[in-house]
Amino acid sequence: MNQTYNRSDSKVEIEGFEARHYDLLTNIITAGTYPFFIRRVMRDMAIQAEDAILDLGSGSGRNACLMARRLSVAGQIVGLDIGVEMLAQARRRCRHLPNVTMEKQRIEETLHYCEEFDKVFISFVLHGFVQEDRLHIVENVYRALRPGGQFLVLDYNEFEPEQSFWPVRFAFHHLECPLASDFVRRDWMAILREQGFGDFQVHGYYFGYLRLLSAKKLERGGERADQGIKKADG
Ligand SMILES: C[S@@+](CC[C@H](N)C(=O)[O-])C[C@H]1O[C@@H](n2cnc3c(N)ncnc32)[C@H](O)[C@@H]1O
Repeated sequence: MNQTYNRSDSKVEIEGFEARHYDLLTNIITAGTYPFFIRRVMRDMAIQAEDAILDLGSGSGRNACLMARRLSVAGQIVGLDIGVEMLAQARRRCRHLPNVTMEKQRIEETLHYCEEFDKVFISFVLHGFVQEDRLHIVENVYRALRPGGQFLVLDYNEFEPEQSFWPVRFAFHHLECPLASDFVRRDWMAILREQGFGDFQVHGYYFGYLRLLSAKKLERGGERADQGIKKADG
């Protein structure tokens, strides 16, 4: 981890053509498999009908719509995103869903939610920040979750990019946000444990290069010594 990264290295703020066609592009990059993959993720998230879910970097709203299908009228989703085009798509897409709201908000700034959510979901967003900002986001998540709530990180797994399968190596060299190389080299369970999370569960996808990491909010200074790691599948 010798290389230093700056905020200017980030490519996670998506605009223009890429924003307007984000869903189509993810379908193309994954050779049409993305819809099947994301439905599997939804199942693995174990959403309960009355969950209040905060979606950080909610993008086009595709995930919010899929999550909303699993909620009753008592459930709720709040999506936060900074991209104007992404927000416009998400609002259009979710306009018929009264329990989904989308707000323009930078997620690394202090959020004022306090113990309001059962789940916080962040999908393909966390890798695109410098570590200092990632930790601010994790702090926001901790505060926003109710005790025992779940932090769900859908993103790259941990691996050494230089030793990965060549298409992944190519993507990390030429396409992906440079900060992703830093993200995949970190021990996220150790980091989250430090921040007061535990009881981890991992679901792997795409040969283990992607994962859904689920972490439970523990009482800080409380149950932290005895968190086990359950590998659900993949
Ligand atoms: C790669 S997309 C992922 C979108 C969505 N989560 C998904 O999985 O389809 C990253 C999203 O994060 C948003 N984003 C980037 N930086 C952000 C920030 N600082 N605060 C809030 N949203 C941000 C972008 O606008 C974009 O919608």
